[in-house]
Amino acid sequence: MVQPISSKAALDRCSARRHLERALRAAYAACAACRVYLRYALRRRLSVRNAAIAGVLACINAAVLPCLAHADSAAGEAKAQVCVACHGPLGNSTNPDYPILAGQTARYLYLQLKDFKEGRRSDPRMSPVAATLSKEDMQDLAAYFAAQKPVPVPVKADAASIDAGRQKAAQVLCTMCHLGGFLGQNEIPRVAGQHTQYIVKQLQDFRSHTRTNDAGNMASVSRGLSDDDIRNLAAYIANLQ
Ligand code: HEC
Ligand code: HEC
Repeated sequence: MVQPISSKAALDRCSARRHLERALRAAYAACAACRVYLRYALRRRLSVRNAAIAGVLACINAAVLPCLAHADSAAGEAKAQVCVACHGPLGNSTNPDYPILAGQTARYLYLQLKDFKEGRRSDPRMSPVAATLSKEDMQDLAAYFAAQKPVPVPVKADAASIDAGRQKAAQVLCTMCHLGGFLGQNEIPRVAGQHTQYIVKQLQDFRSHTRTNDAGNMASVSRGLSDDDIRNLAAYIANLQ
């Protein structure tokens, strides 16, 4: 039933609300980052208004912050020759010591290179390579590897372990940030199809605070994980191709 609107104030409120709802729906439809933030905000019982604001801010962040518009994937291909020795051809590493870079989000790749260069993340094999890269190199390399197609790696894991990993991932709400299927978005990495051994090492490194460049996101998630949980999660996620 349509309520009669008796005053101008009520009319304004009504139309402001309709505008807000329309903006909310548009933001939700427009980008994956918004959907994650809105779900998070709603779960935390923020008001619809605050959730809408968080969602729109997330959208603006996603659109403005990456600033990879000038990245040149063709230039990245030439610069990527030094990476092949460890990360494999086209970023498809076959050695589980080295993460697969193909199909990773450009924003995440860029931030990791910057973190290695500036010492926020450290590894004796990777840090010296990053130290030689300029900002432009990092942008070009990020664009290049993000554009490559990940080649599925064969994973040996028993069905019980994979199933336990699936349940743990659902319980800890990993996909709230990493998205369904662990496909990643913006600064949150794709983990689907990554090497089991590399996933295990990263989760252990977050848990022991050996890796601390995650703004606390993964430190709090990994704190409650047992060695078995980590093994099972890695088996499950490596199998998502
Ligand atoms: C000598 C071997 C080596 C070379 C050469 C090398 N890397 Fe790495 N890279 C590594 C290792 C090892 C890691 C994982 C470190 C860890 O366990 O945290 C890594 C991690 C990374 C990561 C983080 C990936 C993630 O999922 O978090 C990026 C991005 C990266 N390398 C890019 C590059 C690029 C671009 C080049 C070429 C310019 C390159 N690497 C050359 C060994 C190497
Ligand atoms: C609150 C958001 C959030 C949640 C929940 C979350 N992650 Fe993450 N995860 C991140 C972010 C952000 C990073 C990248 C950190 C950085 O920039 O170094 C990350 C990084 C990772 C990495 C390292 C990937 C690489 O290539 O080095 C793995 C593995 C990972 N997460 C697995 C998980 C698993 C498994 C769960 C659930 C048990 C989970 N994450 C839950 C936000 C989250």
